[in-house]
Amino acid sequence: MTLGIVILTGAGISAESGLSTFRGAEGMWEGHRVAEVATPEGFAANPPVVQRFYNGLRRRLADVEPSVAHSALARLEHELGPHNVHLVTQNVDDLHQRAGSTAITAMHGELRQIRHTATGEVRSWTQDVPETDTTWRPNVVWFGERTIGLAEITEKLSSAGMFVAIGTSGTVYPANQFAAIAKAAGAITVEINIEPTDAPFDRRIVGSAVQCVPPFVERLVQCYRRVRRH
Ligand code: APR
Repeated sequence: MTLGIVILTGAGISAESGLSTFRGAEGMWEGHRVAEVATPEGFAANPPVVQRFYNGLRRRLADVEPSVAHSALARLEHELGPHNVHLVTQNVDDLHQRAGSTAITAMHGELRQIRHTATGEVRSWTQDVPETDTTWRPNVVWFGERTIGLAEITEKLSSAGMFVAIGTSGTVYPANQFAAIAKAAGAITVEINIEPTDAPFDRRIVGSAVQCVPPFVERLVQCYRRVRRH
């Protein structure tokens, strides 16, 4: 039997590492209009703006570090085992991976990857993509595009015992459906957010990810150890 803990993270978990959330200021992301840099139409209209934007974001990754919230989630997977804990992130940064999480679905893609626009081949990013290039695009899911790994995520949610949403506004489909899917499967649903959302979670922990995730993980680990002893 598996415990089936599914954790969904959003931009809020990386905020304290210094990366902007999406809905901080009126549809702007790092000072750009979202439509300009996060839609296929934006890329078609102006490739240099999009390539420059993502080249800049990738370079920024070198200046930021995973926080204790990312590390705590990696610890949870390590303590309970990857068969018991699955992390789904909407974030395109690599902070969960760098913190050591391995059972992870990056449902909106990964900043550190590029994708061939014709063949779909995915490569690791090693150097800046030339600004006029339209052959390689960021391997991130833009508005209007299909989420990565949705079938696998839905399967995990359908057998989950617990669903935890951390630092996400829950405004974007399909992530905003996950709590309901897990709840229908009998899971306990928990939200950790600095500003609670309107979604009907069973439990809410209000506070920053850095403050709240490590003690939450500690409680889960202690609980798991107690159950295993009996
Ligand atoms: N700790 C916990 N929560 C935080 C913190 C923090 N330090 N800082 C902000 N938050 C919360 C905010 O209250 C908000 O609910 O994080 C959430 C961030 O919401 P969004 O900016 O909407 O980010 P996210 O939910 O990840 O967006 C989902 O939308 O634009 C698309 O593809 C993009 O993946 C993104 C998706």
